[in-house]
Amino acid sequence: MKKVIIALDGHSSCGKSTTAKRVAAKLGYAFIDTGAMYRAVSLYFHENHVTLTNPKEVEKALADIHISFQFNEHRGASDVYLNGLNVEEEIRKMYISEMVSETSAITLVRKAMVAQQQQMAKHRGVVMDGRDIGSKVFPDAEVKVFMTADPVIRAERRQKELLDKGELVDLDEIIDNLKKRDILDSTRAEGPLVQAEDAVLMDTSFMTLEEQVNFVLQLHQNVL
Ligand code: C5P
Repeated sequence: MKKVIIALDGHSSCGKSTTAKRVAAKLGYAFIDTGAMYRAVSLYFHENHVTLTNPKEVEKALADIHISFQFNEHRGASDVYLNGLNVEEEIRKMYISEMVSETSAITLVRKAMVAQQQQMAKHRGVVMDGRDIGSKVFPDAEVKVFMTADPVIRAERRQKELLDKGELVDLDEIIDNLKKRDILDSTRAEGPLVQAEDAVLMDTSFMTLEEQVNFVLQLHQNVL
């Protein structure tokens, strides 16, 4: 069967990863959460006190960073590993969300991550979610979806996700974080969050997960 690349881009917390995970499982494709990669880099920078404005320090740190994904039977999804250590739980915490957009705006960081992402999907058969997948990482992706949703609905979903993991965060703080990240992600010079010209818009505000998955599966079916 023909294998393609499915690029799911869009705003923070509008269901990209959950949809991508389900679509990948249905198709027997790999799922790559590129946000997790930028979060893992942020964690490394945080733990090693890397000065973000110092290119030499950033370059040296990037050379020491190895990111991989490993399937977790228990969760039924892949966990992200930073230099051999499972950091799946740590990178989802609020303090990482607070610093990730600054980290991901650094050109050296983007170059390193984009190169890895292109390598990971070179045999196609991949669902990749992020901000610049359809516009920059794989401009030739066969399926491109740009996801968005009402900011309050996104924040409520994010709050529930954090609560399920035991972190209680005020809704206003989450709304503020999502807004800040959207602005930083959309206005950076390198690989900004943008809807690719040939991407199909999907507003998930009032869609169930099943509807989102079916929407993407239908687009996939159309290109086979
Ligand atoms: O998808 P998630 O919300 O986990 O992404 C965290 C952050 O990583 C985003 O807010 C953005 O700053 C960055 N990111 C990016 N490019 C991607 C994926 C994520 O800049 N392809």
